[in-house]
Amino acid sequence: MATPLTTPRLLLRGWQSDDAPNALEIYRHPDVAQWLSPAMDPVHDLAGMRLLLQQWITEDSLSEPPAGRWAIRRHIDGRVIGGAFLLPLPPGRQDLQIGWQLHPDVWGRGYATETTHALAGSAFTQDVDEVFAVVRPGNIRAEATARRNGMGWVGITDKYFQMTLHVYRLRPADLDRTTQQNQLPGAPAHEPSWGKDQ
Ligand SMILES: CC(C)(COP(=O)(O)OP(=O)(O)OC[C@H]1O[C@@H](n2cnc3c(N)ncnc32)[C@H](O)[C@@H]1OP(=O)(O)O)[C@@H](O)C(=O)NCCC(=O)NCCS
Repeated sequence: MATPLTTPRLLLRGWQSDDAPNALEIYRHPDVAQWLSPAMDPVHDLAGMRLLLQQWITEDSLSEPPAGRWAIRRHIDGRVIGGAFLLPLPPGRQDLQIGWQLHPDVWGRGYATETTHALAGSAFTQDVDEVFAVVRPGNIRAEATARRNGMGWVGITDKYFQMTLHVYRLRPADLDRTTQQNQLPGAPAHEPSWGKDQ
């Protein structure tokens, strides 16, 4: 279940049905939809988005922390700018996958990085010692986010979601190392600087 988490610029909280208009703008955007793993059936309208959100909310209420599905809400204007999840990877459901989906007009501001630090940092306090990102080949921004957060290259696999995917792994020491590089909470030697806006 999505435990709420607050970062300097973001509130990560469970989805709500009135998030549907913002969620639709995110999940029907081709620059987001084309990269999702697992793939998502296209969502065309508000009714479809509301149904999907209801499904996510129900599934989330049944999931065991630290797994969950979060809406990413920006403090500065209250806008839901994206979603993120920590979900068990098939087939064994033992490994946790981290995934992010941001509206393209907020890419390049470090929000996925800030989200990763919050979600993985929280998971690492809950008996989890690694999380994985599975990225479609050619998804340069997602690979850069994985590397920016210190994720290590694991390899290429066909075992998830009937797709060929690039696998990255994040461990607590990787996160500690990149906290300072990314000027995120806990960075001792820097004044906080949270990107292009607050
Ligand atoms: C993958 C995705 C979430 C990455 O978003 P992003 O905004 O590029 O990711 P980050 O948070 O890592 O931001 C990094 C950028 O912000 C900049 N930035 C600004 N302030 C920053 C800060 N405080 N910390 C880190 N980066 C910061 C970085 O310099 C970098 O800029 P650049 O892209 O011009 O090099 C986004 O592209 C997306 O939603 N894609 C579609 C869905 C998808 O592919 N999901 C992943 C499936 S595995």
